[in-house]
Amino acid sequence: MIRGFIFDLDGVLVDTPNLHFAAWRKVARSLGFDLNESQYEELKGLNREASLIQILDWGNTKLSSQEFNDLMVQKNEWYLEMTATMISDDALPGVHEFLKAAKDLKLKIGLGSASQNARKILDQVKMTNYFDVIIDGTQTTKSKPDPQVFELGTKKLNLRPSSIVVFEDSKAGIKAAIDGGFKSVGIGDRKTLNAASMVYKGLYATSPLKVIEQFNFKS
Ligand code: G6P
Ligand code: MG
Repeated sequence: MIRGFIFDLDGVLVDTPNLHFAAWRKVARSLGFDLNESQYEELKGLNREASLIQILDWGNTKLSSQEFNDLMVQKNEWYLEMTATMISDDALPGVHEFLKAAKDLKLKIGLGSASQNARKILDQVKMTNYFDVIIDGTQTTKSKPDPQVFELGTKKLNLRPSSIVVFEDSKAGIKAAIDGGFKSVGIGDRKTLNAASMVYKGLYATSPLKVIEQFNFKS
């Protein structure tokens, strides 16, 4: 029995993955190398620190902890500049409708995002009020693919992982959902997210009822 939905933010509710990536590319270029499309997929879902560790590894670059921290701050400044003008219309297609429909079904609704900017972005796109619980990068100590972010949300919702569907656009996030015992729906490319139980191009392409029916049919 499905009782709750937990949504990732970036790439599921808002179209920000390309902005995170653009800011990380600026970081890489400032260090003398570049990032490619397949690295873009690998970075999705990782928190800020884990992302920079991965990027430095790709660039064979070592930094002092001061330089490391300064670059994380710099990346965030660039990211915040790029998202400063986001408004409600910048939600991905069908998202407001999907969240409203989930509320109408009396499902519990959670956010499970690695981003420390999650609350700010949710406020900007006027989505905060849909959520019964918001877990973001300010409350977690482990990055996806660790399931911690979803587990914290589940505890607060007082539900079991098996009664929750996680919606994710990243490979790391789908792995986190599966490892935590959650049901998983991929949002994006079917090939990239093939570990998920089902994949849709966007929330516009389905509905809460359809998702629930599909899982009931599977079990
Ligand atoms: C999201 C994105 C990642 C990003 C992470 C941390 O989950 O998918 O690309 O690195 O959040 O975001 P932050 O806003 O805290 O830097
Ligand atoms: Mg994401």
